[in-house]
Order: sequence, then structure tokens, then C-alpha cells
Amino acid sequence: MARKMWMRGTIAAVSAAAMLALGACSSEPASEESGGSESAEGSGGDELISIGFSQVGAESGWRAANTQSIQDTLTEENGFDLSFSDAQQKQENQIQALRSYIQQGVDVLAFSPVVETGWDAVLEEAKSAGIPVILTDRAVDSEDDTLYESFIGSDFVLEGEMAGEWAVEQYDGEGYKMVELQGTTGSAPAIDRKEGFGTAISGSDIEVIDSQTGNFTRTEGKQVMEGFLQKYDDIDLVFAHNDDMGLGAIEAIEAAGMTPGEDIKIITIDAVKDGMQALADGKINYIVECNPLLGPDLAEIAQKVVAGEEVEKRIVVEDLAFDQEAAVEALPDRQY
Ligand code: AHR
Repeated sequence: MARKMWMRGTIAAVSAAAMLALGACSSEPASEESGGSESAEGSGGDELISIGFSQVGAESGWRAANTQSIQDTLTEENGFDLSFSDAQQKQENQIQALRSYIQQGVDVLAFSPVVETGWDAVLEEAKSAGIPVILTDRAVDSEDDTLYESFIGSDFVLEGEMAGEWAVEQYDGEGYKMVELQGTTGSAPAIDRKEGFGTAISGSDIEVIDSQTGNFTRTEGKQVMEGFLQKYDDIDLVFAHNDDMGLGAIEAIEAAGMTPGEDIKIITIDAVKDGMQALADGKINYIVECNPLLGPDLAEIAQKVVAGEEVEKRIVVEDLAFDQEAAVEALPDRQY
């Protein structure tokens, strides 16, 4: 599978240029529900690209930023007629939404799959209907990579590795006991971040004493951390698969009379504003970024696919990492 590392600045530049060059591309007539051919016209007067997007849910700050990026970019002004649905973290809701978009005859289907497996049937249906599919953020686990045109998103294994490497640099030799707050069971980021972190700490003396899912939410992250604190009195380190669960863990640690970031160190992934503020305040110790601003890349790839141009099968978005000092510096200009 072809892999390409794009700097964020480059992506933005390429996307803007592509939008200007392609303008509003011609497409199949939009369905009545998505606006019909008359209302499906942008300021340029050309037909809009109708796109059905099925979002995972609204589970985290990251997801809110991702939704905003998609809705702000796939606008009529930019040549799109966007139908958007929130699956509330349920695969059956996503499959239902995708089937309804297929029935409407949208030009492009896009979605961020809540879990990795179980998509082949609906993707076959899209293929038979001649509707191209673009994956954003999360991958599907399928033998057949002709079922989608392109997958745009971060390298989650690398994110886990970056987090684990920093943990080893800082804490190896201290005999730290670690608990892990995993993301949604069966989702690509939970599987890959766990794998990457595990690989990075293997051979160190960091010991993973427990690992449970907090489903990427603050509430469940807090609940799981409360359980860990009742069960163990010697936790030194938390690895949370996203900021929101780390923020939930902070609440649990404080409620137990301890100081997060000092008594118990915390490493998370995402780098959304709330997480970065907690890092700047010393309550989180390290964050690996996961960039949610995927709207411009999705717009560019959708335009190319509809225009019949070749697109990269895999577009890897580059992520940074932050310690406390870097968070203090980055916060004033943080977009999300
Ligand atoms: O798929 C990306 C992950 O999903 C983010 O890290 C997490 O915050 C979100 O819920």
C-alpha cells in the first residue's frame, strides 16, 4: 500500500489549490433529500458534489473538532452538498446511514468507521452502485482494498510508539506500574495505539498492571480510573488512548486525594485544547497529537475521485508531540 507523509501546511496548500483548480465539478444529479439539482448549485452555478458522511459520534473533543472541520469545508461555497449523520458510536447506525446515502445516489460516500471489521457487505453495495468511498480518520480491516478509494488519517501505531518511547526515556529504571485506558474496543486507534505503545515499552521495566476500555469518553475514563484506584494503591503511570479519558482520569485521581502529573504521571493522545491546557498546568505529562482537521483533505480527494483522477490510497497525516513547555508555547495559537 502506497504511503505518503504530508506536512500539514503542504496538505492545506495542495487542498486549496485543488479546490481552486477544480472549482465545482460536475456530478450525478443530487437526490431530492440532499438538495436536488436546482438547490445543489454553488455560487459558481455548477452542480455540487453530493457527499454522504457518516461520523462515529460526539464522544470526544477530538471528534467535535473533526466534525467541525468537515462541516466547515464541505460547504456549498466549496462545491459540496453534504449530508451528515452521527452514528452515536454504533456500527449498525453507520451501516444504516451508508445504505441510505447509497439509496439517495450520492456522488461520494465518506465515513470514519467506529470499529475495524464488518464493513465488506455495505462497501460491496456501494461498489455495485458505482459510488466511491473515502475513509477518514479510522481504517477498515478488509482483504479487499478495492472497496474504498483512499484512507486519510494519522498513523495510530506510530502515535502509540511515540508515547511509549517518551515513557521509556523518562521512566525506565524506576520500576513504574502502569494502567492503560483503552479507546473503543475493536476500533483502529485502540488496537493500533495499544500495539505501538506496547512495542515501545517492551524491554523496559514499565509494567502494565491493568488495561480496560474507557470508550474514548471522559465519563468512562473517569469511571475506569476510579476502579483502578480502588484496586491498586501503587499506580505510577496512566497511558490514556485519548485526552478525554486522560481528563477523566485526572478527576478520579484528584478525587482520591492525589496530584495528577506528580503522584501519578499521565500520557495521552490527541492534543485538543482541554488536554493541552492540562499539560500546560502540569496535570498531564506528555501528549502525542492526532490531527482532527481532515476536512480539506477529504474535499480534495472527493473532488479528484469525482473528476476521475487517480488518488493516493493512503494519506498519512503527520502528528507532533508536546511536553509541558511545548504546550505552553502552542496553546495561544491552537485551532482545536
Ligand atoms: O479516531 C480518533 C480517535 O477518536 C481520537 O483519538 C479520539 O479522541 C476519538 O474519539
